[in-house]
Amino acid sequence: MVKYWLYINLNPLKTSRSENSATEEAKRSKLRSSHREAVWGERFFGEFNQSAIISYCKGLAMFTRFRRKRLNPVLRDLVKETTITPNDFIYPLFIRSGEGIKNEVASMPGVFQMSIDEAIKECDSLKALGLNSVILFGIPDIKDSVGSDAMCEHGIIATALRELKAAHPEMFIVTDLCFCEYTDHGHCGVLNPKLQTVDNDITLKNLAKQAIVHAKAGADMIAPSGMMDGMITAIREGLDSAGFSHIPIMSYSTKFASAYYGPFRDVAESSPSFGDRRSYQMDPANRREAVLESLADEEEGADILMVKPALAYLDIVREIRDASNLPLAVYNVSGEYSMLKMAAKAGVIDYEKVMMETLLGFKRAGADIIITYHAKEAAALL
Ligand code: PBG
Ligand code: ZN
Repeated sequence: MVKYWLYINLNPLKTSRSENSATEEAKRSKLRSSHREAVWGERFFGEFNQSAIISYCKGLAMFTRFRRKRLNPVLRDLVKETTITPNDFIYPLFIRSGEGIKNEVASMPGVFQMSIDEAIKECDSLKALGLNSVILFGIPDIKDSVGSDAMCEHGIIATALRELKAAHPEMFIVTDLCFCEYTDHGHCGVLNPKLQTVDNDITLKNLAKQAIVHAKAGADMIAPSGMMDGMITAIREGLDSAGFSHIPIMSYSTKFASAYYGPFRDVAESSPSFGDRRSYQMDPANRREAVLESLADEEEGADILMVKPALAYLDIVREIRDASNLPLAVYNVSGEYSMLKMAAKAGVIDYEKVMMETLLGFKRAGADIIITYHAKEAAALL
């Protein structure tokens, strides 16, 4: 065993020993730097091995007292690194035609399909809670192969936008831009029959049309969610050419093919009638590609980036936060919401605490904006 001659008198700690190799010097300097305070004012001679010196120093309470800053609640708040406010939230609304309709979705307690008049009332209660931003999803009366309702000025979203904006001009209204709720096959664009998947470039043209319809009807921000390549370029060009260069695009830039969207497809009635979305949404296994996807959308001119889902992808949130200086949103998706709701129903979690801890986790990971079905409940607690 290596023996040290330890002389503790001054700060920093001095050790001396018979050998004088570089490694021994390195060990000594490590000891000095980690136990400097402990030996302040001590005087001690003797022969020790290294672990004895370390336990000696520990005996002098040579560890960090993190708990000092946790004792007083005011100080706890002063040193808090991350906070959530109602300004961080965008609340999703599902709109369908009709009047006086407010249907709760079985798989998502507290989430409703609403007719426009009910959505207008809902905005009153949102404002009362300090929530000023919503994202709209539409459930059309008629679905077809291209999703015509989404590109029509009298479609469900265009109509809802005009009426909501008339009733609540100061509400910031984002629209989800996709076709899966509007197509009879439930995929996110026009199908290419040969490839049996969404035809990327034809869908780009339709996305630009849909964006212009939304902007004309009063949308404040467009949020394309279909994961088509080049969608930001196409939508930006469309908006700019129609006089909407001031309308920002929040891209669902890194969106994974996730089973967490299950309950959403019940509300939005948007399940694909065949196959799945793995030929356009991302493989959950891919971290490097996740960064590339968002950076490509930044290059194309996206104003805000997004990671979706949120909970199982916080590493991706951090990665993109560090790779880009754009604002970053997360979508706290339907399955994430339902899991908490069902766990609360089963009595196995303290719902409110778990919800707040989850939302805080998104911000700590690097999100600026949280799209969440919890927004009302969270805002009520803040
Ligand atoms: C439409 C869209 C989906 C979600 C948001 N926009 C579903 C999907 O991609 O299948 C999911 C939202 C949620 O699960 O809460 N493309
Ligand atoms: Zn879609």
